[in-house]
Order: sequence, then structure tokens, then C-alpha cells
Amino acid sequence: MEFRHYSVMLDECIEALSPERGGIFVDCTAGGGGHSFEIAKRLPAGSRLICLDKDDDAIEACRERLSEFGGKCTLVKSDFSELATVLDKLGIDRINGALWDLGVSSHQLDDAERGFSYMQDAPLDMRMDSSSSLSAKDVVNTYTESELFRVISEYGEERFASRIAGNIVKARGEKEIETTSELAGLIIRSIPAASRKKEAQHPAKRTFQAIRIEVNRELDVIKPSIEGAIERMAPGGRAAVITFHSGEDRIVKQTFSHLADPCECPRDFPVCVCGKKPQIKLVNKKPLVPSRDELDENPRSRSAKLRVAEKI
Ligand SMILES: C[S@@+](CC[C@H](N)C(=O)[O-])C[C@H]1O[C@@H](n2cnc3c(N)ncnc32)[C@H](O)[C@@H]1O
Ligand SMILES: [Zn+2]
Repeated sequence: MEFRHYSVMLDECIEALSPERGGIFVDCTAGGGGHSFEIAKRLPAGSRLICLDKDDDAIEACRERLSEFGGKCTLVKSDFSELATVLDKLGIDRINGALWDLGVSSHQLDDAERGFSYMQDAPLDMRMDSSSSLSAKDVVNTYTESELFRVISEYGEERFASRIAGNIVKARGEKEIETTSELAGLIIRSIPAASRKKEAQHPAKRTFQAIRIEVNRELDVIKPSIEGAIERMAPGGRAAVITFHSGEDRIVKQTFSHLADPCECPRDFPVCVCGKKPQIKLVNKKPLVPSRDELDENPRSRSAKLRVAEKI
């Protein structure tokens, strides 16, 4: 299958990172290499791009995409929570920019066999890293009803989480839930017809998103990874993060605010005595969103938000 990915907010990311300044850049979510390609293209001689992804297919696709840049690009199959270890192994102390384009890639969604999509029938899987032990089938068939409710309501912000969790437990009592179609059908039946009709998006979208986030532990790694990258960043270096739903964006916003203003002194203290100094400044107060042209060209980018911070 051809590895196709429309890179979200590409121009905005390149402008934020300014790879033409040179140095060492990290693409924490390389995917099909769309952002990486544009970064690598602009890097002056002697600069480097480190590309991480925890999906073997993505690493292979990215390797091919970046082949013309030779040794300038280093690809590592890794979770971005391991960034510090990867840099240590490569003998890199300081970096000058880092990008996270969070979530699932179009390729992962479109490749039916990976079991990410409610639109295509396949075994329930949803693992980005196919060597990891937890799959969507495990979550759906082994989590308790209250755990399922928590995942679906918290990560999917699904109003009918309680009915969906209840129906999953009822259905699997009769037979294990094995495929994306079985799960999607069950979700559709759990949502009242009147609510289904009002909605523009597919009724299974939120629950599938929630289960995918749980399977890949997507939210747990965002904060430590940003903090770790900022720690290794040279002054003036930039961190750019694209998010696709409010759960992700909230974590990025809070992580950036804390790094920009870590002082823990009571507000009425005349001076700071805790000694915690800002690590970054925010480049934009509000997140950037895709342009009208981009939205017309790629409707999947509609929920994207880009936050950028600069190391002090
Ligand atoms: C939205 S896609 C990136 C697309 C890429 N920017 C491009 O232009 O082609 C997100 C990628 O991040 C990877 N990913 C998600 N969470 C990850 C993590 N914690 N560690 C490493 N890779 C991760 C996914 O496997 C997926 O390939
Ligand atoms: Zn203080």
C-alpha cells in the first residue's frame, strides 16, 4: 500500500522551527515523513534530523521518503517518551528544535488491517507499535464496565459512554468482540437515533478514538516528552506541537504554561523565593489553526491546533 499522508499545518511548522538556522532537529512523530522531508530539505550542511516513530511501517516509509538526504537523517524506531535515551545513544547533547504531530496517521487509519477504522472491517487491533502487548481487542474484551466507561467518556468525550460500555459488556458475555465492524455496530445501536441524526460525524468516531488512545497510552507520554525535549534544547530552540483533540491540547497547553511560569510562590509574595525560573516563552498565546485553504484540501485537519514555544 502506498504511504500517503497529507502533512498538517506544514508551512506553519516549518516557519516555527526554522530549520534553515541549522543544528539538530527531532521529528518525534515522523509518520510518512512529510514534515521531516521539508525540515531535511532546508537544513544547512552539518545539520541533522532525528526521526522517531514507534510504528515499523512508518519508519520504513519515512526511510524511503528521506533517502535522498543520506546521512543527514537518522531514523529510530522508538516511542518519543524515550527521546533522552535515543539522544544519549546517538551522542547528542543539545537539540535546536522538536516537532510532535500527535495521534494517528492517515496511513494507519486507511490500512484496514491495522484495525483503527470504523469504516473498514478488520480484526480489532489499533496498536501503533505492533510489538506492544495491549490491543483494542484486549481493551474491549477485558476491561471492566467502569474502566470502559472511563476510557470512552474521558478520551472520547462521548455523551453515551455509559450505554456503550454497558452494551460492550453485555455483548461480550455472549461472544468475544473481535472486529471493528462488530464494535462499530454495537456503538451505533447504543446511541439514540435522534442524536445520531443530528451529528455530522460518524457515531463510532469518538469511541474508536478513545480506545485507540488507551491502547497506545497516547496521553501519558506527552508531558514528560515535551519537558524532556525542552531540557535538552539549546536557547532559542523551538518546540512545535500539533494536537487533534481537546484532551491532547489541554496537556500541551498546561505543560507549556508551567514551563513558561513555574514559580510556586504565593501570588501575594512581592518577589519570587522558590527560585523556579521560566524555561520557555510562548511564541503564540493562542494556538494556530489550519488555514481555510488547508481545510478545503484536507478536511481531516479540521481539529488541528499548533502550539509553539521557544527555549529561553
Ligand atoms: C499524525 S502522524 C505523523 C505524520 C507526519 N508528521 C507526516 O507528515 O507524515 C503521527 C505518527 O506518530 C506516531 N506516534 C504516535 N505516538 C507516538 C509515540 N508516543 N512515540 C512515537 N511515535 C508515535 C504514529 O505511529 C504516527 O506514525
Ligand atoms: Zn517563585
